[in-house]
Amino acid sequence: MSLEPEKLKFFATFIESELGIVYSDSNYFQLEHRLNDISNQLGFQNVNDLWLKATFGIEGQFKALLLDLATNNETSFFRDASIFRGTIEMVVPELLEKKPNLKEVTIWSAACSSGQEPYSLAMAFEEARSKNFNFPDYRIFATDFSNRILARTQERTYSSLELQRGLPAHYISKYFEPGAHPDTWVINSRISPSKFEFQQLNLLKPWNFDHNFDIIFCRNVLIYQNIENKIAVISKMLKFLDAGGYLALGAAESLLGISDQFDQIHFENAVFYRKKQT
Ligand SMILES: C[S@@+](CC[C@H](N)C(=O)[O-])C[C@H]1O[C@@H](n2cnc3c(N)ncnc32)[C@H](O)[C@@H]1O
Repeated sequence: MSLEPEKLKFFATFIESELGIVYSDSNYFQLEHRLNDISNQLGFQNVNDLWLKATFGIEGQFKALLLDLATNNETSFFRDASIFRGTIEMVVPELLEKKPNLKEVTIWSAACSSGQEPYSLAMAFEEARSKNFNFPDYRIFATDFSNRILARTQERTYSSLELQRGLPAHYISKYFEPGAHPDTWVINSRISPSKFEFQQLNLLKPWNFDHNFDIIFCRNVLIYQNIENKIAVISKMLKFLDAGGYLALGAAESLLGISDQFDQIHFENAVFYRKKQT
């Protein structure tokens, strides 16, 4: 069964107001496909019944499913590997020059998806610390708007296929152990859970921290946002970075037209954004 365009627009407007993700008319077929999935999952007779329910409010599990299905959780371990090498080989040594007493680097993975990004950072730090006794410790704040994906991050469990995307072979034997189910692998105790904090956080809604970060990873999430949302999120993140702190974006993203408060610093084929000293 199909939905009339104005009913699809109703859902699209809701998703845009919550997540800033825009469905153009040409993508309505995709939205409709997802609404059919939700309708089945929630046990409705058809998608029109789902729409009727929505007119009374989209909340709870319905809201979570709708927003989850609207997002793209694509990620992998060491995605764009030079960002991780640059963090270890350039960013942290520079932070140490500015703050010689820095014992713990504080990092925010601002749209962590299923956790490959924060755990890749942790492995990169562990490797550096095993080679250099003076390399600082780390603390990682991992957030995502989706509770479902955040729960996956906290499970620390991945399939062989996910491991094969981006992880060097010796990291697999060093940082993973077999999981309870066939073809699952769990991050082992070499990556201590005590170094992480997890929090549900929608970048487009009010958020706050009671401290600043040395590094913010905000990769492959703002790419779906309009320019106003990008400006709002980046200018707010700026306040939570110390002068000289670093921002990392996705490989296809830039701050062009968004902020002039950062210097661009290149490392291999990656670009970092360093908050200007004022
Ligand atoms: C494509 S993944 C990127 C994951 C990781 N940063 C990477 O680059 O591999 C985008 C993530 O952003 C999250 N997301 C989308 N909109 C968001 C928002 N408004 N606030 C917080 N997270 C959001 C999605 O749930 C998804 O997990």
